[in-house]
Amino acid sequence: MIKDKVKKIYKAKVKNVEKVSISAYLIKIELPQAVEVKAGQFISIYCKGLTLRRPFSVFSSKDNEIGVLFKERGEGTNYIKSLKSGDLIDIIGPLGNGFDIKNKKSLIIGAGIGAAPMAFLKSKTDELNIESLFAAGFLNKDEIPSVITPDKIYTDDGSYGESGSILNYLGVLINTYNPEIIYVCGPYIVLKTVANTALKYSVECQVAMEKVMACSIGVCRGCVIDIKKDNKVINASVCKDGPVFLGSEVVWQ
Ligand SMILES: Cc1cc2nc3c(=O)[nH]c(=O)nc-3n(C[C@H](O)[C@H](O)[C@H](O)COP(=O)(O)OP(=O)(O)OC[C@H]3O[C@@H](n4cnc5c(N)ncnc54)[C@H](O)[C@@H]3O)c2cc1C
Ligand code: FES
Repeated sequence: MIKDKVKKIYKAKVKNVEKVSISAYLIKIELPQAVEVKAGQFISIYCKGLTLRRPFSVFSSKDNEIGVLFKERGEGTNYIKSLKSGDLIDIIGPLGNGFDIKNKKSLIIGAGIGAAPMAFLKSKTDELNIESLFAAGFLNKDEIPSVITPDKIYTDDGSYGESGSILNYLGVLINTYNPEIIYVCGPYIVLKTVANTALKYSVECQVAMEKVMACSIGVCRGCVIDIKKDNKVINASVCKDGPVFLGSEVVWQ
């Protein structure tokens, strides 16, 4: 097990860091070897001077190149933002389970920076010729990353696309598009609302959960959530058992 985890540690070379919205950046890194990445999997980046690595979903992956779309929050993301072409960084990944892509008409929902892994998922469903609609919600026009092209965009303040929270449109989206499965990533309230709405409409739903992480590899138990399995409530770690869970199995707070 440990050997398996160690195999996933890489010294990656920064290709470039680009500002792609008022608050988000895209970093592209090159690994020493090609890696297979599933949509919804993440990498954990060592940020110089900080004890804990920072986890980020994979936004794009081709051969040995991985892209991560991130929002500047604190010290870690500030460090990543400051990286220059040619710098070496220490990453672990890809980690976690990723989405279990089904050959079903798919509604792919992303909110805020949660749209990043969903853009990757959309590209995977397109590659597999699975019919899908990618709907994304942002606070306003300035928050929309230039590298993301959803089929439908919603902004809370109405400055781009349809006006209002994407959550206000869930019923309409489900009724008009008739998805057989919904995949979602975004803030907790978005995950919870989409999961509960999917349940109401009897549509299968997979949610990408987010928790502040310490080890990212299933050791510290710092990222556990409650899930229902066989009529029992059990702990699951978001980093190792997730981050993707069935919406119906999560015990929502
Ligand atoms: C599986 C997973 C995938 C993620 N994918 C992405 C991604 O694709 N793009 C992206 O921008 N971010 C993503 N995040 C969140 C990202 O890990 C945090 O934004 C980052 O760790 C913040 O580090 P920092 O040192 O800059 O901020 P810190 O100084 O650690 O914190 C600054 C602020 O951000 C908040 N914060 C820290 N960690 C998280 C977290 N995990 N979730 C929510 N808020 C947090 C803190 O509470 C604090 O308010 C992901 C998190 C997880 C668990
Ligand atoms: S972060 Fe340590 S178990 Fe998930």
